[in-house]
Amino acid sequence: MVQITINGKQIEVPEGTTVLRAAELAGIDIPTLCDHKELTPYGGCRLCIVEVQGFRVPIASCTLPVSPNMVVNTETPALKKSRKFVLSMLFSERNHFCPFCQVSGGDCDLQNAAYREEMTHWPMQPGWNGYPVDSSHPYFVLDNNRCILCRRCVRACAEMTGNFTLSVAERGAASIIVADTNVPLGESTCVKCGACVQVCPTGALIDRTSAYQGHETEITPVKSVCVGCSVGCSVTLRVRDNRIVRIEGDWDGVVNRGSLCEHGRYHPMTESRQRITTPLMKKNGKLEPVSWDEALGAVADKLKPLAGDAHNGVAAIASTRLPAEVLASFRALFAEKLGAQMVTSTEEGMTTAAVAALAAKTGAFEGRLDVLKTADTVLCIGANVAKSHMVAGFLIKRALPKGMKLINIDPEGDALDELADVALKNQPGSDLALIEGLKAIVIKENLGRVPMAVPNADKVIASAVETTGLPLEKLTLAARMLAHAISPVILYGKGITAQRNEQLIEALFNLAVLVGAVDQERVGFLSVKGEANSLAAAQFGLDAQFALNGQQAVYAAIGDDYVSKYLVERLSKAPYLVVQAAYESKLTEQADVVLPVTIWSEQEGHYVSMDGRVQKAEKAIIAPEGVRENGAVLSEIAMRMNMPIHTDWNKSLHERKSSVVLS
Ligand code: FES
Repeated sequence: MVQITINGKQIEVPEGTTVLRAAELAGIDIPTLCDHKELTPYGGCRLCIVEVQGFRVPIASCTLPVSPNMVVNTETPALKKSRKFVLSMLFSERNHFCPFCQVSGGDCDLQNAAYREEMTHWPMQPGWNGYPVDSSHPYFVLDNNRCILCRRCVRACAEMTGNFTLSVAERGAASIIVADTNVPLGESTCVKCGACVQVCPTGALIDRTSAYQGHETEITPVKSVCVGCSVGCSVTLRVRDNRIVRIEGDWDGVVNRGSLCEHGRYHPMTESRQRITTPLMKKNGKLEPVSWDEALGAVADKLKPLAGDAHNGVAAIASTRLPAEVLASFRALFAEKLGAQMVTSTEEGMTTAAVAALAAKTGAFEGRLDVLKTADTVLCIGANVAKSHMVAGFLIKRALPKGMKLINIDPEGDALDELADVALKNQPGSDLALIEGLKAIVIKENLGRVPMAVPNADKVIASAVETTGLPLEKLTLAARMLAHAISPVILYGKGITAQRNEQLIEALFNLAVLVGAVDQERVGFLSVKGEANSLAAAQFGLDAQFALNGQQAVYAAIGDDYVSKYLVERLSKAPYLVVQAAYESKLTEQADVVLPVTIWSEQEGHYVSMDGRVQKAEKAIIAPEGVRENGAVLSEIAMRMNMPIHTDWNKSLHERKSSVVLS
């Protein structure tokens, strides 16, 4: 620890802390613009200058590490004068006529800094010319006229997203923010995560969806969890007049630390599906609006006589985007009360069934996603994380320039291939041979961390070469890279789990043990699951493959999920179909009864992330009139059949052994 004095206050901070962070810890405010706690200090704007005893000139506190017995002053008349000068320069460089900017009035760090220094005007004549405005992006606008060149956006794109799309072109006063080689943002390599917009301290990058819709002071923040996939990112929903105007990554989020992807930040804001706000029933071949009483009565009348008929009664299928409380009630109603055998989820265990089967024998064998933050080598197999679980992909992409090695395996090839040190496109169906081949090479070359034998290694390796269609050199390169790693991680996905082959997962786990990805200290082995609650659904046993086999009715609890064409096709054969859904779809079109329900932001409930974190999503807005909560609808149907359901979702969640510790 290092002792320093700031404004006469003695404090002790860890070695390596910057003076700015030390001041923050002591509750002393130093104005900043280019600094951001999630980004590497840059020291560009010079607003955070402080006086340090023994230093000839004021110095930027955001890049200055503390040293023993340092004496710092943050508020002196000279500093105030210097900060005013810095701000005057910034204001006069570009078009900062605040009243016309959407962040003016409380949301602009530049404007707020000026108020802090009691500026009422700036003495320098503005001397700027027009700078380019780029409005080619579907979600945000880049206005270089409002830019102060703090490079927060450039750093966020590189350090948070690992995408390196944004950079600075030109020099001096002509400098501008550009995408790639100065192509329109909308045509660039941007992955639309919006991190740049979230960190922009002025109005240079503004969201199309939230611009001019209210300042921070007029908006209620609701901390919640993203339900876009199973990564489980923490979000802050900005709500005004019962409407979400903006979704931001929560800087305190354990896994995402402020990052979000397109699915989490923008997709919910551009929802265009037609909402259902009244129950519908098929009458004379046409869906017609009816009362809740009539719709629920009809469903209960249809289902009740089917109770106890395990095979020919009812089949039920639920979305893995529903909260754990709803999934537990769903199972209680259909599997326990009505005794139906075919009760599953829309994912049908594609990402969880084989994993759960292995967990049933071994207990938890998977680790946490943040193990990626300390990995030096990652083997990614069948996961396509850069597309399917983008924030998990960011954790990999951002570490690559720092020296992390990546081995990417996917028969189809995926978005990480071009960044990988070794990209292996093996023949479809050859994953087991590939994994056994990698193991055999490691064992044969004596590179394993634990004793493991393979009878006839040469034969296994030759078989791997033949089955995968990959040259021996490439397999050897991958095996050596993995075996030489200090902190390797193996990340696998649907490409592996959807094969429903427990032996395949076991073989991959053994490879992880062999190369030291899993030992007493750490578990560098995990699978990306599917939707937000696919792990919870699996824990409730909702992971069977769906098949209609003589059932007289089907109940589909879809919530706000999308419905696959494949499911629509299979359910078209249902003799009687009840669909509990928020939006119109091909499935609701073919239903006999449609029950309109809440969407993700209109209900509270728990979600279990891919790595076992049980998190609560909060209700942020009130549902439209006529719409009921997903869980309430199931309870009402149960009540009408005199089969009340009382579930302890959390207890049920822990009844089945999980592949990862749930907490
Ligand atoms: Fe320190 Fe910008 S905040 S130089």
